[in-house]
Formats: sequence, C-alpha cells, structure tokens
Amino acid sequence: MFQNPVERRHTDCAKWDELIENTGEEDVLSLTVADMDFRVAPEITQAIITAANHGIYGYTNVSDRYMDLTKRWIQKHYNWTPEREWIVYCPRIINALCQIIQNYTNAGDSILITTPLYDPIQSAIRLNDREIVSTSLVRKADRYELDFEDFEKKLQSDVKVFIAVSPHNPTGRVWTEEEVQKMVRLCKENDVLIVADEIHADFIWEGVFTSFGQFLDQYDQMIIGTSASKTFNIPGIEASSMVIKNQALREKFTHCLRSAGFHNPNYFCNPAVEAAYGEGEEWLALAKQVILENRKFALAFIDQECAPCKTIPGEGTFLLWVDYSALGIAEDVWNDTLLHQGKVACSMGGNFGEEGRGFFRINLAQPPVMFKEALTRIKKCVEGTRK
Ligand SMILES: Cc1ncc(COP(=O)(O)O)c(C=O)c1O
Repeated sequence: MFQNPVERRHTDCAKWDELIENTGEEDVLSLTVADMDFRVAPEITQAIITAANHGIYGYTNVSDRYMDLTKRWIQKHYNWTPEREWIVYCPRIINALCQIIQNYTNAGDSILITTPLYDPIQSAIRLNDREIVSTSLVRKADRYELDFEDFEKKLQSDVKVFIAVSPHNPTGRVWTEEEVQKMVRLCKENDVLIVADEIHADFIWEGVFTSFGQFLDQYDQMIIGTSASKTFNIPGIEASSMVIKNQALREKFTHCLRSAGFHNPNYFCNPAVEAAYGEGEEWLALAKQVILENRKFALAFIDQECAPCKTIPGEGTFLLWVDYSALGIAEDVWNDTLLHQGKVACSMGGNFGEEGRGFFRINLAQPPVMFKEALTRIKKCVEGTRK
C-alpha cells in the first residue's frame, strides 16, 4: 500500500499536473504540495464506494457520527475534551481563516503570524486587504525559536488576530507546552483572538503535541482548526472542523459561514471522515512508519551526500525544511536547476516569506523508492553546482 508508486499524473492532480503545465516536463518527480502519494486506508475507499453506489448525491447534513468521532479523536490524540457542540464543520481550514479575517477584523487591521509560513495563510491576509504583522522565527542551530520579546511587542501594536500554526509549516516546529501557554497568556493580556491551525497535529516525531485547546479554560477567545485531511490523505474531500468554546464567538462564526453560503458538506464528507477517524488508525500507524523511515533517510542523506545543504529536522509534519544557502545560488536559478536538470520539484523557500530564501521544503510522504530517487536527483544538482 505504501511501497508502490501510484500514477497521479493526468488526474488533474495539483501536485503533479500543475508541474507538467508549468514546466512542460512529464518526468519531474514532485516533492511539493502537502498531500501524500499513498492510497488512502481501504476502509475510506470502501466507505466512499458504498456511498457512491447509492446513486443519489443530494444535500447532506454533517452526521452525528462525524461529530462524535471528531470529538473522540481530539480527546484521544490531542489530550483535551471539547463539548460536541463546540465543533463547527467548515470545508477547509483556509475557508475558515478567510471568514475569520473578513468578519472579525476590518480592512487595514493587523494580523500577526510567525514567518517563514505556509503561503496561503499569508495570501488570505493580503487578499483581504489586512496588514501582515510578522514575527520572524529565529534559527538557533537546527531549531527555530519564537522570539517572545518581539512577539509581545507585535501583540501590543494593535494586532487583532494571531494565527498560530502548530506543528508549524514549513519549519516543522511543534510548540512546547510552555511556549503554547506563554503565547496564550500574552494574547489574553493583549486581547488578541487566537486562531490555531493544528492541521498537522497527527505527525509528531519528537516530543509531544500541545494543542491550544488545552488552554481554553484560561482563555476562550480561540478558534482551533483541525481536520482529517492531512492525517488520512483526504484533503480533496474538504472536511475540516473548527472548535470554538465561547458561545458568542461560535455563533458569530456559524453566521459568517452561512452568510458566505457555506451550508451542507460534500456528500462524501461523512463516509470519508467517519471511516478515517473510526477505522483508519491501523493505516495511519503504517503511513507514519514509512514517513518516519523516509525522514531518517533524508536527514542522513541530505546532510552527508548533499552537503553543504543542511536539514532542519523540526519535530513534526510530513514536510522537511532544508537550508541550501551555502550553495550560494539564487532561488530562481536553484529552482530551474532542480526542475530542468534534476527533474525534481521542491517548494522554494521564498514562497514562505523573505525568511524562507535560501531554503526549500520537501514532502516526505512518498513511496520510499520514489522518494530516494528524488533525493538522488537533488544530490546530482548539488554536485552540478560544484563543477
Ligand atoms: C498549516 C496548514 N494549514 C492549512 C492547510 C490547508 O488546509 P485546507 O486545505 O483545509 O485549507 C495546509 C496545507 O498544506 C497547511 O499546511
């Protein structure tokens, strides 16, 4: 299930077909978009086939089982217990973020993020004419840290919302209990709404995951986003959940969704999420084993064989952030080299903000044979720069 590459080209796949469109090259290996090149759990496929066989794809309500299983997943895996009614279905995390930006802030208001950061979050702020206020993560050897002094200063500069991402994309940082608690305390002191994007929470390689939800008893001006999409490789189903304890905040968010025309979920949302959270744990354990092996391989291979490139291990996500700055090559040249000489596509760091320049991000969730071939291609590109 995880060993054999699955052909995704010519299926309108964002990760593979956009590459062909943009480069005109058919044989480029893609390590870009954050989904997995693994077939999903057979239980999910079967649930979708059963639903498809019904033959009427009518308007659908979020099922009781979706809500119960989402609650149970949070309880079991993220170590806190929401009430069922705190959970609000929303197709995508980015849909929810845009709704929050549009309805909880005004044009020109400031929104705080930590950079480098997953670009669609930054675009969501920009496209809605809000101001990005950013605190740059500070690299200390192999690890990124939050500069709390700067974070607090930025919070005091009339910021309305802080978008927290943990595990963090692209650096892989998983904020510790102490760090999360401190972020929550400082946001509370400055009356700043927290939106915590925890979409990668099921991929923790070192330490433990601390959810912002664990601090809701200290501060309830928080909206916590979670989803089975990354965990079970079903982002195309579009099924996320926003957990909101504070009733007024929740009612406002529900109203925002309604006013933007979000009503019923996709017909396949219930069967996919129910099968994922209800029956997918065995598949997930196997997927994580393969990713972990790829991660171990990549950490050693890149640091040793692709020097002076240097991995930044992070503690979570199925993504890996790599520093190539010592090659002394401009981003567009490096990207062209990878694509056209190496025939391998990586996500270039500049897309994650200025702090990302000199870095690229790779996706670890791939059949090992294909993944090793992609890394070998990167190695050849590094060697080519030395000639
Ligand atoms: C941190 C983070 N948030 C959100 C998303 C996208 O989520 P959605 O497809 O639910 O909008 C991603 C996808 O890579 C992500 O890495």
